[in-house]
Amino acid sequence: MKIDVLLGLQWGDEGKGKVVDVLTPRYDVITRFQGGPNAGHTLEFNGLKHILHNIPSGIFREETLNIITNGVVLDPIVFQREVEALEKMGVDITKNLVISKKAHLILPTHRILDAASEAAKGKSKIGSTLKGIGPTYMDKTGRNGLRVGDIELDFEKKYNALKEKHLHLLKIYDFSFTLEEEEKFYEGIRTMKRFRFVESEFLIHELRETGQRILAEGAQGTLLDIDFGSYPFVTSSNTICAGACTGMGVAPSAIGEVFGIFKAYCTRVGSGPFPTELLDEQGDRLRDLGSEFGSTTGRPRRCGWLDLVALKYSIMLNGVTQLIMTKTDVLDSFETIKIATAYKVNDEITDQFPYALDEKIEPVYTELPGWKTDLTGIREKVQFPDELQAYIRFLEKELKIPVKFVSVGPDREQIIEI
Ligand code: GDP
Ligand code: IMO
Ligand code: MG
Repeated sequence: MKIDVLLGLQWGDEGKGKVVDVLTPRYDVITRFQGGPNAGHTLEFNGLKHILHNIPSGIFREETLNIITNGVVLDPIVFQREVEALEKMGVDITKNLVISKKAHLILPTHRILDAASEAAKGKSKIGSTLKGIGPTYMDKTGRNGLRVGDIELDFEKKYNALKEKHLHLLKIYDFSFTLEEEEKFYEGIRTMKRFRFVESEFLIHELRETGQRILAEGAQGTLLDIDFGSYPFVTSSNTICAGACTGMGVAPSAIGEVFGIFKAYCTRVGSGPFPTELLDEQGDRLRDLGSEFGSTTGRPRRCGWLDLVALKYSIMLNGVTQLIMTKTDVLDSFETIKIATAYKVNDEITDQFPYALDEKIEPVYTELPGWKTDLTGIREKVQFPDELQAYIRFLEKELKIPVKFVSVGPDREQIIEI
């Protein structure tokens, strides 16, 4: 069986958690293949709202196996909190969650390094979630990292050596800190030991051979990709579809459908360029109506119009086969809706995502009539207002990929398959 991949086409928070939860009954296995607790994936059902950070969004369906694979960076402290919260809800996750031995661990000192590095950058800071993501991936590629598999080996010695290296590095920063969370870290490691550590590349290979259906859940979004995102205002992993291959140890030919998920508008949290950002009352309106506050940090998200230049770039990089549009209901009350179809850069029109994403970019907009209808109760395509149908047709024509799902609210039930 091929592996399907679901990933964000914008700057994260496209609604991946919700849609993975909706799609989970169609799969036997859900994997998280990159990123770490910088992610905040929200699921809503039966009046409950739950945010996952390290754990795949298939966790609420007990017949589904969830795998944290090698590409992820895992924080034992955050992990423990997540496990406790799920167990409080009566979810026994030790049965349906396994962790790759090759996933890297986030140490308390990684988080301190993240904070020190951001503080040193001052105004040009990345706007990191400060979860230690950058420093952990730096240790991974620098070949100094501590992995889940080390927990069963010479753990304390390796932990102390890496911690000492970090404390030494921290001396280059003018940054005061106290290392308070080591006890919690070890508690988190004890919680992790209740789970099966696996070589997930072999497990995934076996699952595929026995016909199990696998969905890989991306974190962050394409425009935060370390290679292709708005560098340096990006995260430290490959968030694109290719990241699913290295993040799980599967060949490119093993990938089946690529679900590209995007909001009907656009948001970004943290610093960095955002060509269609609205710094006026319309941006505030999108933030209010869409409750656009970070699931991980609570920071207000920057809001703007849908950007097809960026979306086309993301579709190209990922080989998207199906589109999923979320938060459509947030536009319910707008008279007209703008969509950027090109950029004007130094008086030249382009629809190619430029290398330098600076303020010289002027988006070129098409304006479509709004539907002025409450979509939140709609469950079938035939109930779509004409203006929404026209909006979708416009996107499909421009993007040349079908929109297969339209989400009209945060709840599991609020989605229409086309
Ligand atoms: P993720 O990181 O991609 O999983 O997305 P987040 O969970 O960080 O942010 C998406 C937010 O939008 C969450 O609060 C979701 O509950 C919510 N959400 C998802 N889909 C919809 C939708 O179609 N409409 C509305 N109004 N909210 C949605
Ligand atoms: P999900 O999976 C939105 C952003 C941060 C910052 C940059 C680098 O919920 O969509 P990092 O902590 O990785 O060093 O931050 O990336 N960022 C996200 N923005 N959603 C996310 O994840 C994000 N993960 C990181 O705000 O700008
Ligand atoms: Mg999120």
